[in-house]
Amino acid sequence: MHQVKAVVARAKGQPVELTTIHVPDPGPGEALVQVQACGVCHTDLHYREGGINDEFPFLLGHEAAGVVEAVGEGVTEVSPGDFVVLNWRAVCGECRACKRGDLQYCFNTHNAAQKMTLEDGTELSPALGIGAFAEKTLVAAGQCTKVDPHARPAAAGLLGCGVMAGLGAAINTGGATRGKSVAVIGCGGVGAAAIAGAALSGASPIIAVDIDLAKLETATKLGATHTVDSSQSDAVAEIKAICAQYYEGAEGADVVIEAVGRPETWKQGFYARDLAGVLVLVGVPTPEMTVPDLPLLDVFGRGGALKSSWYGDCLPSRDFPMMIDLYQQGRLDLDAFVTEEIGLDDIESAFEKMHHGNVLRSVVVF
Ligand code: APR
Ligand code: ZN
Ligand code: ZN
Repeated sequence: MHQVKAVVARAKGQPVELTTIHVPDPGPGEALVQVQACGVCHTDLHYREGGINDEFPFLLGHEAAGVVEAVGEGVTEVSPGDFVVLNWRAVCGECRACKRGDLQYCFNTHNAAQKMTLEDGTELSPALGIGAFAEKTLVAAGQCTKVDPHARPAAAGLLGCGVMAGLGAAINTGGATRGKSVAVIGCGGVGAAAIAGAALSGASPIIAVDIDLAKLETATKLGATHTVDSSQSDAVAEIKAICAQYYEGAEGADVVIEAVGRPETWKQGFYARDLAGVLVLVGVPTPEMTVPDLPLLDVFGRGGALKSSWYGDCLPSRDFPMMIDLYQQGRLDLDAFVTEEIGLDDIESAFEKMHHGNVLRSVVVF
């Protein structure tokens, strides 16, 4: 058993607390990871607000990289000393999606069987089955993906959630590629990663849309060829005009990524597509939001696809090492997503900065 410092959300809507927790030694199929860095994601805040479920107390944190300290019986995926990025979708290999060969659609992820606890023995619910705002955490071995150990932990860990969601929304779900146009609506952490993914894919033009000029500036650094401030101009008209300049006859973008998670912006994306274009929803809506009222004939008449992207439809075992290698080669600027490195006692202020303050990611470093 290991006694370590960790950040816990004890009750709905209450500020998080730095405390001591107990982490068991790894049992069969489990790995004990010494956490080196963990990003602060909106989902952590949603947990603390009770927006995900009521299984308090939560051990927050899920965008993490670290070193495997020990593994339990039967573990073959990783060994002690491996540098790993944690994922919240360890494919099961047994469900219908896995058997069909669509491992990226596995919704049957395995987490550690044993529970981490508070000092009084109260069991903790780890956020997304990870819980990495802790010096050490216990996960299923399949949640660890070994990557190049020379990568900076604060940057590598971000692949574990938001950045992978954006990269994958463009590349895996949207099918961005050379010869196609991409527009990204909302350029926060997820949208900026979608821009970077579009740039990696060779797509052109890459149009960044946001209402915050600072986000548009970052998007340009990550590969956007055009920016649209949609608080000042009509995003749909601008996207159509830019795409028509590039490709004669284009009526919009081949791939539109919605990375805000709101009906209005989804509707903009719907109409900003070229005929037979793809609209990818990667922003996370709230439960009360509904699909905007659209003439069914507009859905039919334009062809194409309306998709959602869950975790960027990624396969951690395939995508994490590849993206880290691209980062190490200087072709993917993961450092651009690390706005600040903070201490474990600074998570509340990171939550505040999500609402105001030009932050893509605050990352806790240990
Ligand atoms: N039009 C264009 N951009 C918008 C609009 C709008 N109407 N409203 C907000 N935005 C921009 C914000 O300015 C910000 O840059 O959307 C971006 C959202 O980014 P973040 O708040 O950093 O969120 P992110 O981490 O990128 O996640 C995107 O997925 O995880 C969820 O809750 C999260 O719904 C959010 C989405
Ligand atoms: Zn499965
Ligand atoms: Zn996340």
